[in-house]
Amino acid sequence: MIPRDFIEELKQRCDLEEVVGSYVKLRRAGANLSGCCPFHSEKTPSFTVFPDRHFYCFGCGAGGDVIAFIMRQENLDYTGAIEFLAARAGLAVPRQGEVREEGVRRSRVLEMNKTAARYFREVLNTDAGAAAREYLQSRGLSGATVRRFGLGFAPNDFGSLYRFLRDKGYTDEEMIAGFLCRRSERNNSMFSLFRNRIMFPIIDVAGNVIAFGGRVMDDSKPKYLNSSDTPAFKKSKNLFALNYARGNCNEQMILCEGYMDVIALHAAGFPCAVATLGTAITPEQARLMAKYTSRVVISYDSDEAGQRAAQKALRILGEVGLQTRVLRMNGAKDPDEFIKAYGADRFRQLLERSSTGFEYRLDSILAAHDMSLAEEKIKASSEICRLIAGSYSRVEREVYLLEAAKRLELPPDILRQDIEREAGRMRREQKQQESRDARSGAAGYGDRINPDAAKNMRISRGEETVLGLMLLYDEHRAAIASGAVELQSEDFFTEFGARAFSAILTLERTEDGFEIGMLGESFSPEEMGRLERMRIERRALSENGISVLRESAALLREEAARRREASAEDGAQSAIERRRAALAEKKKQKT
Ligand code: CTP
Ligand code: MN
Repeated sequence: MIPRDFIEELKQRCDLEEVVGSYVKLRRAGANLSGCCPFHSEKTPSFTVFPDRHFYCFGCGAGGDVIAFIMRQENLDYTGAIEFLAARAGLAVPRQGEVREEGVRRSRVLEMNKTAARYFREVLNTDAGAAAREYLQSRGLSGATVRRFGLGFAPNDFGSLYRFLRDKGYTDEEMIAGFLCRRSERNNSMFSLFRNRIMFPIIDVAGNVIAFGGRVMDDSKPKYLNSSDTPAFKKSKNLFALNYARGNCNEQMILCEGYMDVIALHAAGFPCAVATLGTAITPEQARLMAKYTSRVVISYDSDEAGQRAAQKALRILGEVGLQTRVLRMNGAKDPDEFIKAYGADRFRQLLERSSTGFEYRLDSILAAHDMSLAEEKIKASSEICRLIAGSYSRVEREVYLLEAAKRLELPPDILRQDIEREAGRMRREQKQQESRDARSGAAGYGDRINPDAAKNMRISRGEETVLGLMLLYDEHRAAIASGAVELQSEDFFTEFGARAFSAILTLERTEDGFEIGMLGESFSPEEMGRLERMRIERRALSENGISVLRESAALLREEAARRREASAEDGAQSAIERRRAALAEKKKQKT
């Protein structure tokens, strides 16, 4: 168990507002901050950060403190989230009693990666690395660039990396979890996954080596091998070269497809380039970019696949509020080849001439239709109306509208009507969808977190009152712990309520006392969200005194007594009858 003092200090140092703010654009809304929820898709903000350093999303029900936020956002368990925050705050995590060795720790994988990266760099400079050095040179990379990106070489043998890491004290389990080695099924020996490849370390913004990409030097397959997700790495949440680009992207970032594109761009004087890690861009990566810049120029390959991917990237980047541009290239496959063929100045010109996402889409629609045919023109204009209607700002719609009218050679007023009608329809649909989503996640029907609640709403409201009060007020927790207000977990009707009650009380009775963050150890992020809802619903009410606690506790005790009586009567029936009744009840619930 991690001591309470430490959790408190961690929460002091990692201010929720700041931590959330690095993932979500927050706006002030009275005493609170609000923004679009990072955990479900929405256009109107329902994610709220309260001054007491708790958050709650009124759309999807995510909620809790900074630890719960990181568990969910970074997809970590409780200990992982604490380690993550501690690293951010520059604190070392102390441990009480025995160390809970469960799985491979993130910090170990990071250390091991750093060691492996050094090994790959060293091999590059030995005889074994001669061909690799030649390859890098043939691709136009200077020694300085190779060093700046920490490039290395994985030698063409199965065992040397394994032996190197083993001698440094890393276990087989750690090497497997870190995606560096694997155990052969044939002879049960450990072997390196990266062999005879140029190694590209993936480095996060904190300077950790979180993963590797490895490229072959000929035409063999796969061209690139990338670390799969490990305890230290999630592909979908990181970008190549963000560690360098983050300090050079005040104006914009350039998003490319390949590692080599990024490296060529940095070397040519565009240090704001980043790339995804062998996958299409994800919303998480878009949010990560939005943390550092406000504009992204998509500079994908010029082939059809690249252009299709650019369309998708436009949407994903736009959804997190980034301004977007698309750079189009002729005469070269990708930015790396373009710069080699035409030089950095020509690339800079392309960059300056890159079109806005809107222009790019407009061009694509117009190019796909033969505008000399009436029906094609009608199709094109209705597609364009839908495109413009999807923009949230009226001003933006007006600007686009004028541009589109010119290109379509149609009077703006005619288009305007179609666009506003379409925009209205889209907004209504959006609202309906959002409230459908919110309802299906709410209590009652389809409640996965507390399935018992729907069976008796009156009792479950009572439970929520008690738990909300206990989560909010020291004196109410003390009143229950001391027995001044009588209540036991057996008095709870819902399994979730009973579990939450026991957990709170157990912590309250430890020497250190209760701290809400520590509930993250035994409750999932979804469950933490539910507890958070109980807290804020209670806090919104004006009457939260001991009499409210007494009344609700009394209700729960009475109802529990009634249930016990009923089951005592039930006990008179034969065991077989009871079983039958239970089965029938189960069936009834299923239908
Ligand atoms: N990629 C991958 N796995 C592959 C092929 C590609 O992960 N088998 C990813 C890599 O991140 C690569 C990017 O997709 O950098 C773009 O692929 P591609 O255009 O084929 O390679 P280039 O970046 O152009 O690499 P190079 O110039 O070295 O051929
Ligand atoms: Mn290339």
